[in-house]
Amino acid sequence: MSRKPVIIDTDPGIDDAVALAIALFAEELDVRLITTVGGNVGIEHTTDNALKLVSFFGKRVPVAAGAAEPLVRELVDASNVHGASGMEGWEFDEPDRTLLLEKNAVDAMRDVLLASEEPVTIVALAPLTNVALTLKAYPEVKSHIERIVLMGGTAARGNKGVLSEFNVATDPEAAAVVFSSGVPITMAGLDVGWAAMLRPEDSERIRDESPAGEMFYALFNHYRGGSLRTGLKMYDAHAMAVLLCPEMYELVDTYVGIELAGSMTAGCTLVDLKGYLGKPANATVCMGIDADRFRSWMVERLAQCK
Ligand code: BDR
Ligand code: CA
Repeated sequence: MSRKPVIIDTDPGIDDAVALAIALFAEELDVRLITTVGGNVGIEHTTDNALKLVSFFGKRVPVAAGAAEPLVRELVDASNVHGASGMEGWEFDEPDRTLLLEKNAVDAMRDVLLASEEPVTIVALAPLTNVALTLKAYPEVKSHIERIVLMGGTAARGNKGVLSEFNVATDPEAAAVVFSSGVPITMAGLDVGWAAMLRPEDSERIRDESPAGEMFYALFNHYRGGSLRTGLKMYDAHAMAVLLCPEMYELVDTYVGIELAGSMTAGCTLVDLKGYLGKPANATVCMGIDADRFRSWMVERLAQCK
């Protein structure tokens, strides 16, 4: 089986940590680069956390640090959810800092994309600043991208604003660049995160069945406090899951517009299922999920993370 080449753009972040772990141990994937961006916490922390995770799992994947701030707006992070460092709950060892590239995320992405003989999939788990900058600075990379699979947006209500999701609302201008780029996009939004929360017994199985389960469980315990008991949202894992196991999802090709100007709605994703805007589809959106299958899939995948 030939492995699918991927670049992961991320802001770990506890749910990012889970998605990264799944990718690093997925036999179907060849993770060629991890790029970091300011999002859940500042860029120093997200970069440090990515290095810690790669080192924890004993992998040799290069990491490149990217944008500290959104394209236009100021960064308002989510340290209230993920903790001051972004990955509170587990004391990681000092990471292997030789994995950190000297070049920035945008140049590193370009180099990996242009050097690849086959098109590369970008899995974006964070505000889309780095991806937008790469597409704008080096448009020649577009033909080297198979697809951008992203966690972001919502077809319903928001988690950052009334109708907006954190990754898109943090950098709406970047999201607008990506969604209008012409590159194929798969969007896993809040909708599937909410429809398939991990139940306490799933988290306990992960704790007991995964060699790294103690670490995952400690992070979960911190993540959104009481959610470990009421249902844990694994947003970023859905981007990995729809890439690896698309059959679990109900997928709809549709137009997704990004609101930039609204005084109360900037950063909303207009998932135009009924064609009100009269525009051609620019994304494949996850609109439904087999939640039981996803939960079992998560337990199985995390059990492979040593
Ligand atoms: C997204 O925002 C972040 O807090 C999570 O890591 C996820 O990428 C969910 O809205
Ligand atoms: Ca994230």
